[in-house]
Amino acid sequence: MSDLTNVLPVAHAILPQLTQRRSPRAYTDQAVSAEALQQLFTAASSAASCFGEQPWRFIVGSKATSPAAFEKILGTLAPFNQAWVKQAPVLAISIAKTTFSHDNNPNAWATHDVGQAAATLAIQAVELGLQIHQMAGFSQEGARTAFGIPDGYQSVAVFTIGYPAAADAVPADLRERELAPRTRKPLAEFMFEGGWPQPADERYDQAPV
Ligand SMILES: Cc1cc2nc3c(=O)[nH]c(=O)nc-3n(C[C@H](O)[C@H](O)[C@H](O)COP(=O)(O)O)c2cc1C
Repeated sequence: MSDLTNVLPVAHAILPQLTQRRSPRAYTDQAVSAEALQQLFTAASSAASCFGEQPWRFIVGSKATSPAAFEKILGTLAPFNQAWVKQAPVLAISIAKTTFSHDNNPNAWATHDVGQAAATLAIQAVELGLQIHQMAGFSQEGARTAFGIPDGYQSVAVFTIGYPAAADAVPADLRERELAPRTRKPLAEFMFEGGWPQPADERYDQAPV
């Protein structure tokens, strides 16, 4: 079932899965099936990557099937994230392999490609009635220690996976966050057709005549 809470308002038509994707803090206790998890991570693996390296790795902890891993991921989170994340049925850590396999040189695009995989997974989640919430508020060293992540791999983000709960089913502070207006920069602030924008007085087309 589609999550139609706080859909992103946009000025130009885009895929509904994009406007319906959001980062909820309220989840139902419905478990995420093994099949749904496999679909999500298959979606992640469909992303493009530099040299086709597929530098992404994911550690998954499910309350239902791998509760010890869930607790370990929870333990890496900053307190402000731990407070609400407990509700989610699944947690994951995204990890980047930081060198290319074909020549062992540093892969400067590794975290870019992990981000692409995570974004693709997030869109597949919407299609399945799920949502994810990505977090930078966690300890990379904590994750390395907890899971024995080897050198040459760097954790990037932690994210929840779960079925979003209706905003009116959660306490007021969470409800407020769930329903806070969602905005994005106007295109003119980040889409520069023709080149980097120049100060107005250096632009011949805007100079006073
Ligand atoms: C890399 C990354 C790190 C984030 N870190 C946190 C975090 O630590 N805690 C949190 O509550 N939200 C975190 N967020 C969620 C963002 O605040 C959220 O994506 C943003 O406000 C836009 O909202 P939306 O995803 O609902 O469109 C993070 C998102 C990303 C992509």
